[in-house]
Amino acid sequence: MLASVRWRHVFPFMAVTLIVMIGIVTIVPVPLRPVVALAALIQSACIATVAILISHQHVHFMQRGVRVMQRLKEGDWDARLLPEKYQDTRLYVDVFNTMIERFRNRLQVMEQQCEELGAVLEHITEGVIVVNEEGSVKLINRAAAHMFDVEVSEAIDKSFAWVVRDHALIEHERSCREHGLEGVLGVEIERKDIALRASIVPLRRKTGIHCLVILQDMTHLRHLQTVRRDFISNVSHELRTPLASLKALVETLRDGALDDPSAARRFLDRIEAEVDTMTQIVEELLELSRTESGKVPLRLVPTALSDIVFPPVERLRPQAERAGLGLTVHLSDGLPPVLADVERARQVVSNLVHNAIKFTPPGGRITIWAELHQAEVWVAVQDTGVGISAEDLPRIFERFYKADRARSGGGTGLGLAIARHIVQAHGGRIWAESVEGSGSTFFFTLLTTEVTSHSPTSS
Ligand SMILES: Nc1ncnc2c1ncn2[C@@H]1O[C@H](COP(=O)(O)OP(=O)(O)O)[C@@H](O)[C@H]1O
Ligand SMILES: [Mg+2]
Repeated sequence: MLASVRWRHVFPFMAVTLIVMIGIVTIVPVPLRPVVALAALIQSACIATVAILISHQHVHFMQRGVRVMQRLKEGDWDARLLPEKYQDTRLYVDVFNTMIERFRNRLQVMEQQCEELGAVLEHITEGVIVVNEEGSVKLINRAAAHMFDVEVSEAIDKSFAWVVRDHALIEHERSCREHGLEGVLGVEIERKDIALRASIVPLRRKTGIHCLVILQDMTHLRHLQTVRRDFISNVSHELRTPLASLKALVETLRDGALDDPSAARRFLDRIEAEVDTMTQIVEELLELSRTESGKVPLRLVPTALSDIVFPPVERLRPQAERAGLGLTVHLSDGLPPVLADVERARQVVSNLVHNAIKFTPPGGRITIWAELHQAEVWVAVQDTGVGISAEDLPRIFERFYKADRARSGGGTGLGLAIARHIVQAHGGRIWAESVEGSGSTFFFTLLTTEVTSHSPTSS
């Protein structure tokens, strides 16, 4: 190629020179002809040499250009044309190199954006799937793969139907691809026990409509809705029972029981018990909303344990007596003061003693005792009641959890959740030990004032 290009450039020069030379030789006088012919030959040789040199330079330049382009084609974005000393090719080199530089920068920005988008897709909690016009999965992120219990690598290029295995979702995706329809639907994936909200969006491409499926996990929200529904139905139920019995008691009194003093006193006792139950429910609801709002900070002050234990116990004593239960308190001698918000700590004792009363059949005993364990005071509320099964024991501190709904009577299942919240806010622990059928002991700890290094959090 080098030779052909070079001679192609040189031949016209040589031909023109030859013609001019013959012309000149024929018109000059004969004695001068050898000199003129020699001069013409020399000139012709010079022109040919210059033409060859220029041609060679151009060919060489083009070859370098081809080599650079080949490197670029192979992905070497550092390949550049070297600077040229001649004006015309220098301009070409500058334009070429600038163009490649710009192109490379663009590509780098795009690669960076792709990488960032990839990282976002990998780490968002929403599932994302892209399906092509033939219904094959072209992109699926980790969250989506997890939702449908498949591996990302095995889902790629499989049909959308194979991956999701949900009739409603498959139908919506198909109508999106076939008719370009957007859609939003709720999906229950039973095999994983999850609830999803799927948004389906058409992506118009030259080859057809692709489909973008975005999946939000709504399981937590569904759980919260269930909890809320259960809570409202629990509270309504728990309030309706004492209200109905209050109504019946008042009617009986009005219908003549008032005239029988001993029956009237019995009815009044029952009315009082029902009012106590309702008061307890309302107090627990208020306390829960206070603890959840976190708006009431603890006011921790050194307090004698008797100040925490006796007031609620004495308040509940009549209730215990009405239930035919013995109620005793044993506090070890010489217990140091504890760091507590008095009202909140009394609330804990009250909740535990109230439970003990509720879950201990008549004739039973409730004992409250406290001991010093290193830097903590352990307070225990022990009863001889129905006890808690091993299955229920780990769950009783959950909100709204009631082990035996039938026996739990008036109660929202909030008391222990509130107690745990208060104790933890004091920097303490709360737990229960129980043998079903023979009784339970609830423990909680409070820090003594001798602990200076640990400062409990407020809530
Ligand atoms: N002393 C106890 N004896 C037996 N079961 C108990 C005792 N205290 C709590 N429980 C169980 O724990 C559940 C949760 O208690 P709690 O949160 O106070 O709710 P509530 O008293 O409103 O039922 C109770 O419903 C009951 O099943
Ligand atoms: Mg309770």
